[in-house]
Amino acid sequence: MQDKVLIVDDDPGIRSTISELIGELGYDAETATDGLDAINMLDSGPYLCVFTDIMMPNMTGLELIRKIKAREISLPIIVITGYASLEIAIDAMKYGASDFISKPFKVKQIELMLNKVKREKDLLEENKRFSDTLHLHRLIDNLVGQLEDKNEEIISLQAISEKIISLKGIRDLVGAIIDVSKQLLDEAEVRFFPVSRKNNTLIDPKENKEIPLDPELLGGSIIRKHHNGSSPINKFETIFPLTIEGQVFGALDIISDLILGDDKEGKIQYLLDRSAERMENVALYEGLYENMLSTLNSMAKILDARDPHTSQHSTRVTTLSAAMGKALDLNEDERDVLYISASLHDIGKVGIPDDILLKPHGLTKEEYAVIKRHPDIGADILKPIPPMTRETEIIRHHHEHYDGKGYPSGLKGNDIPYLSRIIALADAFDAMTSDRPYRNGMSVEKAIQEIKRCKGHQFDPYLADIFIQKVAQI
Ligand SMILES: [Fe+2]
Repeated sequence: MQDKVLIVDDDPGIRSTISELIGELGYDAETATDGLDAINMLDSGPYLCVFTDIMMPNMTGLELIRKIKAREISLPIIVITGYASLEIAIDAMKYGASDFISKPFKVKQIELMLNKVKREKDLLEENKRFSDTLHLHRLIDNLVGQLEDKNEEIISLQAISEKIISLKGIRDLVGAIIDVSKQLLDEAEVRFFPVSRKNNTLIDPKENKEIPLDPELLGGSIIRKHHNGSSPINKFETIFPLTIEGQVFGALDIISDLILGDDKEGKIQYLLDRSAERMENVALYEGLYENMLSTLNSMAKILDARDPHTSQHSTRVTTLSAAMGKALDLNEDERDVLYISASLHDIGKVGIPDDILLKPHGLTKEEYAVIKRHPDIGADILKPIPPMTRETEIIRHHHEHYDGKGYPSGLKGNDIPYLSRIIALADAFDAMTSDRPYRNGMSVEKAIQEIKRCKGHQFDPYLADIFIQKVAQI
């Protein structure tokens, strides 16, 4: 079924232009001529979002936004403004609108907005679903019960999750705060300083120094003072705290020729309040992600602990993969995905019974077939977790061979995810060089010879060369 989008505007021209553009994007565009009409239509079933004009007869757009939000707080509303007016947009956002669009309406812009709305809706639903998903926790509880003495190691692993957490969401928001402030105050110099919680100082990343934090700012008040910069002209400095749940997380520092005054200060404050709310949501979501990662990491650790002969295997595969990421100059995002995938690559072994997993050697064909299910089991564990889509596929394919003779899917060459091919090398190298009860580990030189021999068959030849040159010797 197509998602329904409601367009409310008294101008028939605008109604038809926007609904045509939205229709082209594959949505079911419905229109209302005024607010009353719109309210009636909203009764007829779920809408993905509402586009509304502000100046309309009978009921203004702001009133409509208020009425919609009173009924259904999560329904996104995008305001249509005849001309780009930040004032109107800010007013509308105060009432709960999530975005605004101005003439000329561009299909790309509408597409991006609708994609964002959809993504946020999916995320919200997935989050709800995920918090209900207790099976992972139950699984882990069982394992923890069996291995209580390993608790300390599990706790130490939480440190890994800190490295994993990406604060990109928050970084983007800081960029947006600076941009919007500059738009509001044309000539002003605007900077944002994060607060160092350890020393209660502001951090100036450019100058690489820490600035003592005014206790008043720490208490949540705005600081207003003369600015003693290098310029002979007298300037003013206004510093706003960015407060999340009563704690000051950063400061927006504005240097201007004129005193800002109540009006501008009010707008900046409003911008910061909204950003703080958004950051809280991002942090909430990232907190959820962090929790989940630490649970998964605990599972990986428990897995290592279950089989003493492969203990620390996940950790070593992660270190080797990370070194490959560096050697290949992967970007930060890819390195994060690689790091998570490598540390969890064998997570699916939690689903393999002890008598098979711990059997020292001589697996039967049937038992080997059970072992070979672990990449799929691992992928299935991660599948319900929305931010782990890429990791899921990388883990699923970490036992594929370059020549197509691996498992579970028999993928070949570049069809195997790039990061899976990296983990495959790290995994095989560590397996070869580690001791097993029935054999000693190979020397590094011998393992390198093996990788050379299997280059193009089991391993990606290009990656195998890089691994030998830059990683195997570390
Ligand atoms: Fe594996």
